[in-house]
Amino acid sequence: MLAVAVRSAVPRRLGPGWASVVMLRQTSSISNYSFPKEVKIVEVGPRDGLQNEKNIVPTEVKIQLINMLSASGLQAIEATSFVSPKWVPQMSDHINIMNGIKRFPNVSYPVLTPNLTGFQKAVECGAKEVAIFGAASELFSKKNINCTIEESLQRFEAVTEAAKAARIPVRGYVSCVLGCPYEGKVSPSKVAEVALKMFSMGCYEISLGDTIGVGTPGSMREMLAAVLDVIPAKALAVHCHDTYGQALANILVALQMGVQVVDSSIAGLGGCPYAQGASGNVATEDVVYMLQGLGINTGVDLKKLSEAGAYICKALGRKSNSKVAQAMCKL
Ligand code: HMG
Ligand code: MG
Repeated sequence: MLAVAVRSAVPRRLGPGWASVVMLRQTSSISNYSFPKEVKIVEVGPRDGLQNEKNIVPTEVKIQLINMLSASGLQAIEATSFVSPKWVPQMSDHINIMNGIKRFPNVSYPVLTPNLTGFQKAVECGAKEVAIFGAASELFSKKNINCTIEESLQRFEAVTEAAKAARIPVRGYVSCVLGCPYEGKVSPSKVAEVALKMFSMGCYEISLGDTIGVGTPGSMREMLAAVLDVIPAKALAVHCHDTYGQALANILVALQMGVQVVDSSIAGLGGCPYAQGASGNVATEDVVYMLQGLGINTGVDLKKLSEAGAYICKALGRKSNSKVAQAMCKL
């Protein structure tokens, strides 16, 4: 659309040089996008990063990881999830995690709570923030939380009501915003509809999940435009898995469109047990490096962050998925 509009405005007499004029005009119009001055990173490594690990990671390793992440200056670290241990055994040590971590004063430690049972258990363990997680795809909802989207919203209503009474902030995830492992394409209007319902029931922020990492800057722009019609940018976050290597580009587009909160996972660990083949989230080290390059403040110390990444990779016997961590290692 943009190219067509600009091209038609170029006088014919410019001849063969018109293409460079079009390029220039397109570039200057793209530079009209401004970036936020500050971006909040929500570190999801201890939860999203580890939930898919086949071998049970010792609780003390998870606790040490969270403590190292806390020391790096991150403001939010998703610590664990209060889901069924039969469904996700890796997260079954949630009580010991919540009791074992050192809670830094300016850091929040949200946990996943799919229903009232999970919420109540989380609060008993001293959770001060929770997250509910729905989907824009019926089949994914069924596979992931064993209910339809409509049923999930009823369960979430019970959680947000209880959270309101307990003055606990609730974050809302919408999965499969750029594609579903079972249904394929997901329409931006469906994403906007589910996101609005969760926002209206009291979620202070909606995190839009590209669960299987199939999005591109084009589909991210289209989906975000639909969601921004109904939810303000300041209440949105993006949660990009990096299966097709598009995550940083997708995040850049989201920032240009006003999003100021980015989810990421230390060393790019992770995946969802109910989204076969999906790789980890975008690596936190890579996001911080990109944001630093854009002059955007995150408050995160990249060196301390990379130490946390090196620690968990060593514990898992794995190479980091973070390009930045790999490069820093060689220096
Ligand atoms: P269900 O089996 O349908 O639940 O599971 P139910 O209500 O029928 O209860 C069955 C049994 O589970 C009962 O125990 C309940 O007490 C128990 P029983 O009587 O048989 O002994 N139960 C629970 N136990 C512990 N904690 C609970 C809980 N609730 C019920 N909260 C449920 C429904 C949602 C619990 C199940 O499907 C589940 O745990 N699913 C796991 C989903 C999950 O963790 N997925 C990965 C996270 S989502 C994600 O990664 C995507 C995200 O990163 C964003 C993105 O990338 O897009 C967030
Ligand atoms: Mg995820």
